[in-house]
Amino acid sequence: MTLDHLEPGQLPAPGEVPSRMYASVIRPERYGAPVDAFRTELVDVPPVGPGQVLVMMMAAGVNYNNVWAALGKPVDVIAARQRRGDPFPFHIGGSEGAGVVWAVGEGSSQVRVGDHVVLSGCRWDESAADIRAGVDPMASTTQRVWGYEENWGAFAQFAVVDEYQCHPKPANLSWEAAAAYLLTGATAYRQLLGWPPHTVRPGDAVLIWGGSGGLGSMAIQIVREYGGIPVAVTSSDDRAAHCLRLGAAGVIDRREFDHWGRLPDISDEVAVNTWLKEARRFGQRFWEAVGARRAPRIVLEHPGQDTIPTSMYLCDTAGMVVICGGTTGYNADVDLRFLWMRQKRLQGSHFANVAECRAITQLVAAGRIDPCLAWTGTMEQVGEGHQMMHDNTHPPGNLAVLINAPRPGMTTTEA
Ligand SMILES: NC(=O)c1ccc[n+]([C@@H]2O[C@H](COP(=O)([O-])OP(=O)(O)OC[C@H]3O[C@@H](n4cnc5c(N)ncnc54)[C@H](OP(=O)(O)O)[C@@H]3O)[C@@H](O)[C@H]2O)c1
Repeated sequence: MTLDHLEPGQLPAPGEVPSRMYASVIRPERYGAPVDAFRTELVDVPPVGPGQVLVMMMAAGVNYNNVWAALGKPVDVIAARQRRGDPFPFHIGGSEGAGVVWAVGEGSSQVRVGDHVVLSGCRWDESAADIRAGVDPMASTTQRVWGYEENWGAFAQFAVVDEYQCHPKPANLSWEAAAAYLLTGATAYRQLLGWPPHTVRPGDAVLIWGGSGGLGSMAIQIVREYGGIPVAVTSSDDRAAHCLRLGAAGVIDRREFDHWGRLPDISDEVAVNTWLKEARRFGQRFWEAVGARRAPRIVLEHPGQDTIPTSMYLCDTAGMVVICGGTTGYNADVDLRFLWMRQKRLQGSHFANVAECRAITQLVAAGRIDPCLAWTGTMEQVGEGHQMMHDNTHPPGNLAVLINAPRPGMTTTEA
């Protein structure tokens, strides 16, 4: 007889797949504050298709994308999927995690039942014409974010992923640390090393917004690893201390400035001059941190609307501002004179391809990059973790929740 479901923390017998599972679920009627939007429910275990893998989730990472999913804005992810023909009226989020391969679908040959894996957060159609023609799968028209644009994410006892989403779990890490580094780590890796010729070189000065956040914590370490000089921006003393511990050459406290947001109208000379004065003062703090009158060759962006004008102004001649998000808004102003006269590059960047995921995983496994796990919750606390992120009250680093791992700190399981 097929087992109906497992209680949280109850590990199945090898090969046993229950028909239902606990998952942290968002429904449209609960869209709003993340702490209320997620609720643990029993749902059917999804089927495993060709080229796919069923993973028993031990732990999952908490990321900003499911803050947006919980709010139902700017995209109603459930309605968007339903428009594409998906019948399910709910969302199971979670775009990274760690677990044990529990079953493999037809044609899967790269992983085996029992493998310990970490899961990456983007999927694509490997048979798509653009991929077959050689484009980076992250640039394929078929690319979508698992556990955000796609359903059946990591906040569930079982998850179905495409085989190439599985990467070897660094053996030295607990389940929850392994679940927490890949999304931010691989995204920062691509931002800093994926856009030649603007890759971090020894001696390059790099400005990192939100240095104590998930992305920022990874970015500081990657810049150091490649010989660059990371300068972090934060908004509290303990966050500044975290950045310095990770290897930041200096920290700028954004509370000392008030020129954030959209640029003043170009015809308002007084307002423009006031803005420029603040931006120059910010630049002087950058020089002090670097120890020389040097501008950042790369600026790692994600706040968006509040900070892009400063990023574009400060970026070195022929340097790059590379952006992967818009936490503070999407209507960001660029004074085009700085863009063309100084020949700067404004580059969009989105998660990472398989090679980039492997590269950051190898750095973590080798002990070169700390996953910076800052908080571990339970499945019942998925909403709380996202709420802290939304309110910007989370501790410095990355956040995770235990799913089937019976307790924190476990590196293996008897199952
Ligand atoms: N496209 C992708 O593949 C991808 C991947 C990962 C993340 N992202 C996006 O990147 C953003 C950050 O992600 P994360 O995981 O690093 O989040 P996080 O852990 O919450 O860190 C973001 C940091 O940004 C800083 N911040 C908040 N408001 C700010 C403001 N008004 N001005 C400047 N800095 C501000 C905060 O630090 P301080 O208050 O200390 O300054 C915060 O710690 C999110 O929007 C997320 O969706 C995109």
